Amino acid sequence: MCGIVGYIGPREVFPILMKGLQRLEYRGYDSAGVALLNGASTFQIFKKKGKVSDLSTFVRGKKLKAHVGIGHTRWATHGPPSDTNAHPHLSGNGRLALVHNGIIENYESLKKALEQLGHRFVSDTDTEVLVHLIEELQQRENLSLEEAVRLALSKVVGAYAIVVMDKEDSDVLVAARKGSPLLVGIGDEEFFFASDGTPIVEYTRRVVYLADEQIAVVRRKTGLEIKTIENELLSPYIEQLEMKIESIEKGGYDYFMLKEIYEQPHTIADAMRGRIHAKEGWIRLGGVEEYANRLLQADRFIMVACGTSWHAALLGEYLFEGLARVPVEVEYASEFRYRNPILTERDVVLGLSQSGETADTLAALQLADERGALLYGIVNVVGSSIARLTDAGSYIHAGPEIGVASTKAFTGQVVLLTLMALSLGYKKGTIAKSYYHKLLNALENIPSKMEKLLAQCDEQVRYIAGEIKEASNALYLGRGHNFPIALEGALKLKEISYIHAEGYPAAEMKHGPIALIDKNMPVIVIATNKSAYEKIVSNVQEVKAREGRIIAVVTEGDQAISDLADYTIEIPETEELLTPLLSVIPLQLLSYHIAVLRGCNVDQPRNLAKSVTVE
Ligand code: G6P
Repeated sequence: MCGIVGYIGPREVFPILMKGLQRLEYRGYDSAGVALLNGASTFQIFKKKGKVSDLSTFVRGKKLKAHVGIGHTRWATHGPPSDTNAHPHLSGNGRLALVHNGIIENYESLKKALEQLGHRFVSDTDTEVLVHLIEELQQRENLSLEEAVRLALSKVVGAYAIVVMDKEDSDVLVAARKGSPLLVGIGDEEFFFASDGTPIVEYTRRVVYLADEQIAVVRRKTGLEIKTIENELLSPYIEQLEMKIESIEKGGYDYFMLKEIYEQPHTIADAMRGRIHAKEGWIRLGGVEEYANRLLQADRFIMVACGTSWHAALLGEYLFEGLARVPVEVEYASEFRYRNPILTERDVVLGLSQSGETADTLAALQLADERGALLYGIVNVVGSSIARLTDAGSYIHAGPEIGVASTKAFTGQVVLLTLMALSLGYKKGTIAKSYYHKLLNALENIPSKMEKLLAQCDEQVRYIAGEIKEASNALYLGRGHNFPIALEGALKLKEISYIHAEGYPAAEMKHGPIALIDKNMPVIVIATNKSAYEKIVSNVQEVKAREGRIIAVVTEGDQAISDLADYTIEIPETEELLTPLLSVIPLQLLSYHIAVLRGCNVDQPRNLAKSVTVE
């Protein structure tokens, strides 16, 4: 939520900032801006409501020579998207420019106090209050920029990642973080700041991930210094940024989302690589091996997540309870953390998150940590806040996911949950050996089945999308393991095509949603289950009797449901427990094609952001 980039060094800064902002645009895209500092100690500031491309058009033809600068792409929290509310924001005297990702919760009281001291504000943002506060302290106490930032942050309640520039000292950039991600890239007499590694990967792979309440000061000549907000000097821990440039480009696809849908056979194979060997009959997950005793003795698993990751967690409940016979509770992170939940040291709290930065999930895990539970993370972004906080965990290894609607991270999470449930079940002896081996084999075969499915269903799904694209509502039904897939299919449609959609357990339909069904209502039924098949057939008949338009996702060779449905999409046969990994694919494609046909911006749907770092 909001993307930040900054640079100081010998290169021309403007192209670095713009390219960086384009890569970070998935984090927010309602306005963008840059501030450049040239040798004559003057700022050039350009800010525009709209996309990064609108900012590009706006600055076309302007003379932009500078070697220090900061940039920002915004997802509005305080104040609507506008040129004025866009970052960077200036201090009252125009000396400091600042970009910020996060929320300053006590900004109103700070603003009042500053107004009494004569400060005047031009925007509605909390960020402008912060830069005025830094200015006030810098002026009043005659402090260096770094000291003023430190002091200001000690007065702030909330979350921030910031980068600040001082036009009276073009040799320095000061940055800090708490609750919002920020990393420093280290080059040869040059430094970068960014919300993630994407803006800097072609320049350097040496990075330092800032931790909460750390301040980084970079000077071109003297280098990087990291301190805590309490002024304690730390030695920077330099890590290698693992990221392929191809993975952050569209590679010939119209949208990142489509590329990411098609990447799934490879990303789930990567999620399994080195962790499973069907022939030899083993599963090895580092995190599980390391904490085997506590995991096996756990009284319960509590899975916390938001959005699509929450749907993966729901599937986790079926998997863990079914295979490892351990009670599971699935919680919306935002509800869990405010409920004073009962937690003990014998609980394992499993946090699922693509970004590893979702504020509510992070806070839920922090709460569980305080209460002594073991924290396990299933995360995609390496080095993210959740990955660092948790005691143990497993990365999904899906590579950067840029489309706002999550696809490959979801299937990656489901693979990890399956591996974990199988591993725990095997160790506990709760799965029959023959079934365990059967599932291992089936799991290893999922990537090739997914590949086949993508090749065979895309055209057909596009056709169906054309048939139902004008609908204003849609219903998704599934049972058992495919109930979370019904929820996920509905969420995907809502997110990117703005059609109202609901996911329901198929049997619950008659307790309400059935009232909505008429000939205009597409009903997408995921009917790949072998168990309860007859019951699903009855549910489909109930829809048919009310003239609903039925789109059924079935297993190859299905007869009964195919006879009833208006459209049938077949998925390859696999173990029932693993069908969600296949049945979700046509649903992802369906929402993608409907969104394209409706002229929606698939990768950047309105009002959403990929990484929600506010609560
Ligand atoms: C946002 C995104 C969703 C995502 C959710 C959780 O709402 O738009 O696609 O599922 O955050 O994100 P996480 O990074 O924690 O998985």
